[in-house]
Amino acid sequence: MGAAKVKIGLLTPESQEEFFRIYEKVFSSRREVETFYGRFITNGWISGAWKDGELIGILAWAPREAANNGLAEIVDLWVKAEERRKGTGGKLIEDAIVRMRRYYKRFGAVLSKVMLFTGASGNFLAARKLYEKKGFRVVATIPKDALDNPYGNDFLCALQLS
Ligand SMILES: CC(C)(COP(=O)(O)OP(=O)(O)OC[C@H]1O[C@@H](n2cnc3c(N)ncnc32)[C@H](O)[C@@H]1OP(=O)(O)O)[C@@H](O)C(=O)NCCC(=O)NCCS
Repeated sequence: MGAAKVKIGLLTPESQEEFFRIYEKVFSSRREVETFYGRFITNGWISGAWKDGELIGILAWAPREAANNGLAEIVDLWVKAEERRKGTGGKLIEDAIVRMRRYYKRFGAVLSKVMLFTGASGNFLAARKLYEKKGFRVVATIPKDALDNPYGNDFLCALQLS
């Protein structure tokens, strides 16, 4: 029997329960995660990856300010540890870019750049390699402690779209 296929799709309000259960461990409480991500879900800014009906990956994004700026941000990307290195993270990024383009078009604008922050430490090597492979480049280094990372530097990365 072949490996189960991974399905990428929109995280709808009907399918949000599993997402909340995974993310409430990262945030302080269920209430906080619902409050923070509620707007993302309502607007269709979270994509999920499902395998055998289980949510194994998440990508959350949001437009940055006015659509005319053409800039979107990937706010969060996660793939379940056992399912990594099988292409899911990459597929989630591709899927999100399609959705971002659609969003900008709705407002008569064009998506021109995607930005994200990621850690500069070894813990984020997989993420950095993936972003690099997808065409993201480091455009600035945020020093340790300047924002919310007391452990080390962060990178601000951007993908320039044609
Ligand atoms: C980053 C993350 C989402 C990647 O998801 P993934 O499904 O494993 O990514 P993919 O399988 O699509 O990886 C595609 C490419 O990225 C690179 N990559 C991914 N993981 C890597 C690793 N551990 N080491 C080196 N390169 C890696 C490779 O080039 C890989 O292609 P290849 O497997 O053909 O060599 C996942 O590792 C994760 O959830 N990490 C913890 C959370 C996190 O760091 N999120 C990002 C916060 S900014």
